Amino acid sequence: MITKKQMQELARKHGTPLFIVDHDEIRRNYAQFRKYLPRVQAYYAVKAEPLPEIVRTLYKAGASFDVASMPEFLIVHENIKNLPDKERLAWIWDKIIYANPIKPNETLKQLDPYRPLVTYDNLEEVHKIKKYAPHAGLVLRIRVANTGAVVELSSKFGAAPGEAVDLILAAEKAGLGVEGLSFHVGSQTTNFENFVQATNLAADIFKEARERGHTRMNLLDIGGGFPAPYDASVKPFKELATKINAEINRLFPKNIEILAEPGRFMIATAGTSVVKINGKAVRDGKTCYYVDDGAYHTYSGIIFDHQHCHMKSFRKGKEEICGVFGPTCDALDVISMSENLPADLKLGELLYSENMGAYSHASSTNFNGFPPAKVVHINR
Ligand SMILES: Cc1ncc(COP(=O)(O)O)c(C=O)c1O
Repeated sequence: MITKKQMQELARKHGTPLFIVDHDEIRRNYAQFRKYLPRVQAYYAVKAEPLPEIVRTLYKAGASFDVASMPEFLIVHENIKNLPDKERLAWIWDKIIYANPIKPNETLKQLDPYRPLVTYDNLEEVHKIKKYAPHAGLVLRIRVANTGAVVELSSKFGAAPGEAVDLILAAEKAGLGVEGLSFHVGSQTTNFENFVQATNLAADIFKEARERGHTRMNLLDIGGGFPAPYDASVKPFKELATKINAEINRLFPKNIEILAEPGRFMIATAGTSVVKINGKAVRDGKTCYYVDDGAYHTYSGIIFDHQHCHMKSFRKGKEEICGVFGPTCDALDVISMSENLPADLKLGELLYSENMGAYSHASSTNFNGFPPAKVVHINR
């Protein structure tokens, strides 16, 4: 874990705003995932934070990757580009899944020579894949309950369970190979029953597919959704893993490969944001701090990811409820309207936020002329 002293030293050396990535923590998260879910191959969901240095660390640790666009695919591919062709294609088949169910024709054309696994969830996509990426392997994404997840995904993606086997057979009829099923229970899922229900639903679809003559499927992708420990209400990962292990071992024989696409879990705790106070005002009796990073930048997860980011002070003092605002002129650029902070902080003092690694810097913009925070890697 990065210490407060380290954060302050890095801010002194590099200036602010800073986005610090701790690679020891990434390795720890990956190791924890593997330890508690030994049967599950972990495909890091690159979208959570696509910095090439992070992908490199996970590549070296032995991770696999979930990509959702051609640029993400190429960030991963950079690590294997010099392998002999046969080995490189085998690595892609085994360790990359293109997990965006809707793909532009141009992307499919670009993907085809790499012969990756791709997800789909509708008939139009079958026709597109047949035409533009006939060498891809298919994984059918099914719709599952996202009850209680912070970020709901089931209204956007996933075939209705009742249509699933028809879609598998349609793809096979078109001459494509369907290798398995995938689902996503919603991001930051603290309702562990979602995983239990989804795994049972997937097992029913495997059974129906077998009964209707499809025996090829040999993988189940249990998606992302593994929660980051943002606060004490999030139950330990071990508890979730125990439930998942029980279900997959009960429902799926050993020859079925189990994959997962953890994004947030791998990276959230590895990112720390350090900001500087550039302005201070008292409005309606409340102390308001204006800092050099905000909701259009590292704190964009407040908008895009329903995050509640907490600001901490390096210095102790009598705390009051304060407002914290970002640097742009925009009204939306609010980090928090009620943060417990010392009210006597001075301009130039620093604040920090922990657990900022996922869906934060990844969706940072250049809005209002303010560039994204500087990235500093530690323990690479
Ligand atoms: C297809 C897919 N897989 C994996 C993820 C990563 O999810 P999480 O960060 O909740 O683990 C997402 C996130 O949106 C996704 O859409």
